[in-house]
Amino acid sequence: AKAAAKWKVGFSQCTTLEPWRVQFNKDVQAEAKNHPDVDLVITDGQDKTEKQVADCENLIVQQVNVLLISPKESAGLTGVVEKAIDAKIPVIVLDRNVDTKRITQFIGGDNVAIGRAAGEYAVKLLGGPGKAAGNVVEIWGGMGTQPAHDRHDGFHVFTDKEPGIKNLLNNQSGDWKQDKAYNIMTTALRNHEKIDLVYGHNDPMAYGAYLAAKDAGRDKDIKFMIGIDGLPDEGVTWVSKGQLTATFLYATPGAEGLRQAVKLLNGEKLQPVITLPTMLITKDNAPDILKKNGLL
Ligand code: FRU
Repeated sequence: AKAAAKWKVGFSQCTTLEPWRVQFNKDVQAEAKNHPDVDLVITDGQDKTEKQVADCENLIVQQVNVLLISPKESAGLTGVVEKAIDAKIPVIVLDRNVDTKRITQFIGGDNVAIGRAAGEYAVKLLGGPGKAAGNVVEIWGGMGTQPAHDRHDGFHVFTDKEPGIKNLLNNQSGDWKQDKAYNIMTTALRNHEKIDLVYGHNDPMAYGAYLAAKDAGRDKDIKFMIGIDGLPDEGVTWVSKGQLTATFLYATPGAEGLRQAVKLLNGEKLQPVITLPTMLITKDNAPDILKKNGLL
């Protein structure tokens, strides 16, 4: 039998309905195997704020030594994060933030930088700075999340400078979901004869838009599809098949999150923010990534 673990780490995941979240949980679990001192408890908020709040309340009652949380949205999870801090439980926030500075650490990608890179790339695809032209469909992630706002703001730093670029939609959210993006795109296709580029705030939504275009017989007319996440069996595969033009890697903070929790439990001080790197994935490097992951 396993000796009683010294530490209990709770991880409140917001949902397991999205593939990126499933990978995220796997990354936390794999890292936990390297730390026999740690007993890991993962909860699933089932994509509902109230459920995730209840999960966190529960982990607080269990007196976990560290709380890892990847919030469904900022506002609704802020209170319970502060409650944990008040109960002297350190909180490491992962990927999506909360509306308080009273946290132990934040780990995630730089979504403004990713959005900027996507915007700069879109401008290049549409003809280059000063000459870019085309009709753009942007499909937002969850409106209550910082990553969606950052991915929007970063993108527009570049595209808004181009008088030839027209935004066809007005802040339409697919809430990170493929099927919702499919519906948004179906309507956009009905309302607009010419669509040149789609920017989805994540790969499932970019792919949902691609499927809508395909079902409408217009996938060949839409020149460019850009997503974000870069999971090997999703975004990278879609890019390698030419269904998406590009995606940007958004590594899960799972392994790093658990390593930082262990560091803290060992008495080390944590830096306030850890920013995970990104990279552009196109047809050029997609096959290499697939090979490395045993998918080609
Ligand atoms: C999964 C997800 C990812 C996205 C991230 C943003 O729930 O939607 O696709 O990159 O969350 O927080």
